[in-house]
Amino acid sequence: MRQKVTIVGAGNVGATAAQRLAEKELADVVLIDIIEGVAQGKSLDLAQAAPIEKHDACLTGTGDYEESAGSDIVIITAGVPRKPGMSRDDLLAINRGIVKNVVRQAARYSPESVLIMVSNPLDAMCHVAMEESGFAKSRVIGMAGVLDSARFRAFIAAELDVSVENVHALVLGGHGDTMVPLPRFSTVAGVPITELMTPERIGELVARTRVGGTEIIELLKTGSAYYAPAAAVVEMAESILKDKKKILPCAAYLEGEYGIDGLFAGVPVKLGTAGIEQIITLKLTKDEQKMLHNSAASVRELVEAMKNMS
Ligand code: NAI
Ligand code: 2OP
Repeated sequence: MRQKVTIVGAGNVGATAAQRLAEKELADVVLIDIIEGVAQGKSLDLAQAAPIEKHDACLTGTGDYEESAGSDIVIITAGVPRKPGMSRDDLLAINRGIVKNVVRQAARYSPESVLIMVSNPLDAMCHVAMEESGFAKSRVIGMAGVLDSARFRAFIAAELDVSVENVHALVLGGHGDTMVPLPRFSTVAGVPITELMTPERIGELVARTRVGGTEIIELLKTGSAYYAPAAAVVEMAESILKDKKKILPCAAYLEGEYGIDGLFAGVPVKLGTAGIEQIITLKLTKDEQKMLHNSAASVRELVEAMKNMS
């Protein structure tokens, strides 16, 4: 049976994710955008690349949520990206309004879907999505950890001059400057990087990872990263569509795990057909746990701030 993925927001991340999903023949893709013609034009363009790229995924662009009905996954990238000088949190009020509206409509037409959130500030937008959709916590997942870990992996591979395929890394916490890259759980061919680099050099790579998104914004000047974010969201979608049960760091609603209650934060989870099928609890050191709680506290601040918004 053909599977169906809807992407709301046909901008840089949304359109690039549509391209990757189609080229991997993971699903038929419905692209939705508020700007008339954008989703339609990009879908048509992508469909015309299909004979060359040799895929038979069906791409539809629309402004009408009815066409998204019965999607297996809905990916939300609608919103405004950061510009230089803006923090992810500056986006809070604008994107909250957008996300409320699009999630309500998407959930109405695809009540059994898994929602993958991308819009920033990511962890706060996951709260909005869970509230608006009324979905179980297993079906509301945020994309951040896969991206942040991929950045850390890329930096480690370049530093040690090894294949990126040999490098695994783990970044937990909220998707912001307080995120928690974990060198102890980051390995090259199974060897922890703590045995391969000096603490000073690891500290530098950790610091660069934390501001990885900002580094790209400052270079692009007109928007934020999208190739790696799109690749990250498609890795999550693939694990769900194929029931691969990959363990990936994702924003999940925690109810006591890691000592965090009633909050979305990035932790390792198992992704399969049902969405989040398990939250993996790692044994953290006191310092690691403290950094994770510090990061969760910044997410909680945003969630509290949203309570005072109309
Ligand atoms: P973009 O500006 O290229 O695309 C956003 C699209 O959303 C635009 O086409 C816009 O017309 C559309 N849109 C706005 N309001 C809408 C509505 N009510 N209904 C439907 N579509 C609507 O931005 P980009 O680069 O694709 O980023 C999208 C979001 O993802 C931003 O909030 C950005 O900060 C976030 N992001 C999050 C990442 C993460 O790791 N979680 C990584 C990269 C981006
Ligand atoms: C990123 O990390 C902007 O959140 C986005 O690239």
